Amino acid sequence: MALRVIRKEGDPVLRKKTVPVSKFTPQLVNLIEDMIETMLDAEGVGLAAPQIGISKSIIVVKDNENIFEIINPEIISGEGEVVGIEGCLSLPGIYGEVPRFSRVEVKGLNRYKKEVNISAEGFISRIFQHEIDHLRGVLFVDRAVKLLTPEEIKKISEKH
Ligand code: CO
Repeated sequence: MALRVIRKEGDPVLRKKTVPVSKFTPQLVNLIEDMIETMLDAEGVGLAAPQIGISKSIIVVKDNENIFEIINPEIISGEGEVVGIEGCLSLPGIYGEVPRFSRVEVKGLNRYKKEVNISAEGFISRIFQHEIDHLRGVLFVDRAVKLLTPEEIKKISEKH
């Protein structure tokens, strides 16, 4: 396993639409392991393959208990709308209020090519939507209804 460099806004790979994974190889497993390691090292809650310069449809997401890996993920349904604050490892220091579905069903494959289906709500649902956006070259700032001011960011970081 190895840490990968996280690409920052301005890197064209972040704006490219990814291609679906078709070959389930040991290299794919290595890539997923590296994504997980890189996400944890950066203290992120999600990472999409373009963020490490790989234009393939793979995301990893974590909550308090689990780490999810989804290959070729798709949102098959979404309901409700909730506005919440997001940041991104590729846009350090920037936070914004972003409307998202409050609840989503996500479908995809795991590293063994087995189908996975996840119903997510709350913050984790937001992360799935954020990471799947990365696979289409969409960043949260594209969807943000408001970017936070430095004062607002300071207030939030003091709470944590
Ligand atoms: Co992001």
